[in-house]
Amino acid sequence: MTETEIKKGLAGVVVDTTAVSKVNPETNSLLYRGYPVQELAATQPFEAVAYLLWHGELPTDSQLAALRAEERAQRALADNVRAAIDLLPLEAHPMDEVRTAVSVIGASDTAGGGSVLDASGSPEQNLARSVHLYAALPAIVAYGQRRRRGQELVPPRDDLDYAANFLWMTFGEEADPVVVDAFNRSMILYAEHSFNASTFTARVITSTLSDLTSAVVGAIGALKGPLHGGANEAVMHIFDEIGSAENVVPWLETALAEKRKIMGFGHRVYKHGDSRVPTMKAALDTLVAHYDRPEVAALYDALEHEFVSRKGIYPNLDYPSGPAYNLIGFDTLTFTPLFIASRVTGWTAHIMEQTASNALIRPLSAYNGPDERHIDGYVPDATAQ
Ligand code: SDX
Repeated sequence: MTETEIKKGLAGVVVDTTAVSKVNPETNSLLYRGYPVQELAATQPFEAVAYLLWHGELPTDSQLAALRAEERAQRALADNVRAAIDLLPLEAHPMDEVRTAVSVIGASDTAGGGSVLDASGSPEQNLARSVHLYAALPAIVAYGQRRRRGQELVPPRDDLDYAANFLWMTFGEEADPVVVDAFNRSMILYAEHSFNASTFTARVITSTLSDLTSAVVGAIGALKGPLHGGANEAVMHIFDEIGSAENVVPWLETALAEKRKIMGFGHRVYKHGDSRVPTMKAALDTLVAHYDRPEVAALYDALEHEFVSRKGIYPNLDYPSGPAYNLIGFDTLTFTPLFIASRVTGWTAHIMEQTASNALIRPLSAYNGPDERHIDGYVPDATAQ
């Protein structure tokens, strides 16, 4: 195999079909089961989008009511999950905390019989596991932030929809409808994006007939990296470093001279802008107005203008999401766990799709190590260090 046939990072390689979403860089568009994500974000509760990703159609009123009831019944932080989180040091990264919590949920899920042969689960079991993780994650993420702040757990409220309850459990007070709407939009925008690194990780794990929760744990590990989900946290670190719009040019010139990656910009698929950014930027603008923080918009616009004009590389979804989550009051380290809470819907939709039409994912490699050699006659080189 020649070096030219190798596609490092699988860049541009189509490895399978999917009906879950269509990412189209030519038209800079993203469809979830055929619906433009902008339309979903502007009109739907996150609960309806979760249903769409799992079932392929938007829910009827009764189907949405049934999903809401199922989710509300599983919102509370389970005692064994809380106990596992409490064993972790407060300094543990929240992504490790959430990964651990999900692993406890998986290890406690003995409904599958626990045997290797039962691991992959039936379609009904996997749908129930998907809804359970989607319902359980907000309390896990909210408790993690409150624990680090020395605040008590806030129990869920059954009278609030998903987004409003997530904010209630995190901050212990009812959020303004403007904030709930912006947060709901971010959950929809983060939910799904075809074969991104974490979703593909989940599909690889699923392809061995391992269980759904193991695939989600693996996806969490992939999402943590700053080249992927960790970028929204990294964007906020950059904003904190720069401080204000006046500092953008000197900061950027130094960063580019040091060959730093400017987190929140660039994308493997979108090369002329991320289709989700305008919708998330609009949500950020409503939060800037709501909290009266024009300096955030000034810094955002200045860095975008200076970087795009220098490198021709455009913002991705993580760029507006970081400052938006900061304005709402989430700790910076909580940002990527929020991505998990949303993307668990896309991951599990792909896990169920992979299970339904499976083939073990096992690519080839081109060997470039030593030629064949043999032990007999091997004499260790006494001078070797
Ligand atoms: C997400 O795949 C998905 O769908 C992911 C995601 C999803 O919803 O699941 O959209 C979520 O992960 C968004 C991306 C978040 N990551 C970041 O913001 C990290 C910063 N971005 C870069 O690391 C980079 O843009 C990637 C990794 C996202 C994409 O990189 P590619 O396609 O592999 O391109 P590349 O790294 O080879 O870059 C090409 C050139 C390079 O220059 P040269 O070395 O050829 O001179 O562009 C440069 C890069 O250095 N470049 C950047 C840059 N992004 C690309 N230079 C500085 N800062 C950047 N952000």
